[in-house]
Amino acid sequence: MNKHGGYYGDDYKEIMDFSVNINPLGPSESVKEKMIESIENIDRYPEIRGNSAIKALSNHMSINEKNIILGNGAIELIYLFARAINPQKVLIIGPTFNEYRRAFEMNDSEVIEISRLESKEFSIDYENLVDLIYKEKPKVLILCNPNNPTGEYVSPIDFHFIVQAMDNINGFTVVDESFMDFADKETFEKYIYNNNIFLLRSMTKFYGLPGIRLGYGLGNDNLIGVLNKFKEPWTMNSIALDILPYVIKDKKFIKDSLKWIKEERKFLYEELNKISALKVFEPNANFILFKLEKGNPKEFFNYLLSKKIHVRTCEDFKGLGDRYFRISVKEHKNNKNIINTIEKWNKEVCG
Ligand SMILES: Cc1ncc(COP(=O)(O)O)c(C=O)c1O
Repeated sequence: MNKHGGYYGDDYKEIMDFSVNINPLGPSESVKEKMIESIENIDRYPEIRGNSAIKALSNHMSINEKNIILGNGAIELIYLFARAINPQKVLIIGPTFNEYRRAFEMNDSEVIEISRLESKEFSIDYENLVDLIYKEKPKVLILCNPNNPTGEYVSPIDFHFIVQAMDNINGFTVVDESFMDFADKETFEKYIYNNNIFLLRSMTKFYGLPGIRLGYGLGNDNLIGVLNKFKEPWTMNSIALDILPYVIKDKKFIKDSLKWIKEERKFLYEELNKISALKVFEPNANFILFKLEKGNPKEFFNYLLSKKIHVRTCEDFKGLGDRYFRISVKEHKNNKNIINTIEKWNKEVCG
């Protein structure tokens, strides 16, 4: 299995876990109440494909039901897509979420990775990307937007010529918008009907439901039809299906979360930027990537852990290394705590 964030030691209740990218405001009290009500239904099989929840999403987003597929978290749909499309070659815009490589390699696809430009805030090297698309002719291109762990966001207008290049070679573009709710920026939604796009969204992060597992994908009739042929029945549990219609309509929670993320992301980014040992990359989601430019990274990690702070090391992301760390945005007091702790370490080690 790949490495992921999350602290699982016995003392996990005492640890401030900055390694997981989950909205600390969630789930809302009203959603928790719906979960409790839903326990009444666990003696029945859930709907095979979650049609009622798909209908609720369809009404909410004004997207046809046949263009929506639900997943037990976005992760189910990544593996389903890899299995159903079974491409010979895949091009991943990295460094990025490591499950893409695993899902495609498991299905014997050849995976090629093109690196974002670190010197330009991990932006995409478009010239190189277009060349590679026409040279290698991959069946699938993967873009995470905003990207995990670098945080970079690309606008659909700037990226659309790449989607068209993939269409030209009869390929698919997977756009993973699992963190888009935090970015609150323009999405690729409008392209799903006329381009070969698979748009993927997680509901576990923004809504604070990683234990419930909920995600969905959007695509044209043909693509969603193929994915449904390969999907196992009953992969979404009845609690997840029952709460979905309430989760997406929880206006107060969504408004409070957007206010929190905008304020706290700015605060954390600006304060981290003041610390001389760090090079900080501009965030767009609910996490921030930084590079430790001075000091020993292992000692830095252990120092934070000794202060009950757990951060995500990034040595397993192809193209990054042990000097990179990702931290999530949390509530203000916790954000202040990590800043004070890193500042102290910076003073002790860098003077
Ligand atoms: C880019 C990306 N896509 C998908 C997922 C999986 O999300 P879920 O919890 O909905 O399965 C993650 C989890 O970290 C992720 O970072």
